[in-house]
Amino acid sequence: VITIQTREELLRLRQEWPRPVGFVPTMGYLHEGHLVLMRRARQESGTAVASIFVNPTQFGPNEDYFTYPRDLERDAWLAESAGIDVLFIPPVDDVYPVGYATRVEVDGPALPWEGERRPGHFRGVATIVLKLFNMVQPDAAYFGEKDYQQLQVIRQMVEDLNVPVHVVGCPTVREADGLAMSSRNSYLTPKERHQAPAIHRALEKAQEMVNDGIVDTWSISRVMYEVLAQAKDMRVDYLTIVDARTLEEMDLVDREARILAAVHLGRTRLIDNFTLLPPQQRS
Ligand code: PAF
Repeated sequence: VITIQTREELLRLRQEWPRPVGFVPTMGYLHEGHLVLMRRARQESGTAVASIFVNPTQFGPNEDYFTYPRDLERDAWLAESAGIDVLFIPPVDDVYPVGYATRVEVDGPALPWEGERRPGHFRGVATIVLKLFNMVQPDAAYFGEKDYQQLQVIRQMVEDLNVPVHVVGCPTVREADGLAMSSRNSYLTPKERHQAPAIHRALEKAQEMVNDGIVDTWSISRVMYEVLAQAKDMRVDYLTIVDARTLEEMDLVDREARILAAVHLGRTRLIDNFTLLPPQQRS
């Protein structure tokens, strides 16, 4: 893998990359979820590029920017083993030099849920993703569905700003017990880690209910809360059934829906989501 740190080097080298260029933006501390995106980029591209950049503008003042897990050496090795050709690891002051003054603000899907709880978060995400797209100039970019709202926000931005990048969403990768892979899982104590799969159990329970013909979201949510209550240290931040595209809350699962969940488990905040198809749309 070739590692690039400066924008000048990137500008010089990117002319020579065989197209199409597939791009996987990450904040590092790679896990299997990232590696699936990287292998897919490898398969579908002439050049597979990944970035590692812990983006300060998407963290709130009381969030974990300074303690976010980092391990560049291991990341470079893992990215290479997943077939990445170029790893872009820019320093913070190269991305946001003194005097930096521009931000990308998405409304619509960026407003509810994470948008309400983490003011400025999606502004930071949209800004860095657009900047990375402009720097790397990929043909396609790969994102995990684990951050479902983020994926919808990026799709909205790309559509609204006519960004010539094909956005590819890839299914969430889970541990054997159902916990969605996330770099932040490393914060969990062994006891919390044991409780965490309750989130996935609750989401699966919802699809079971819909399959049994129960489609009112109030009843489904009540049962999901009961499943989550089995994990003693868990506190639900939000648990909602929304339209898969607009992220607006639904009363009945009468079209493709998404359950969005955010919970606090000890000192860690975990998010997950699950697709929910109405009975007639299931094969
Ligand atoms: O999902 C992430 O890791 C980040 O939000 C992203 C898309 C790399 C932007 O910093």
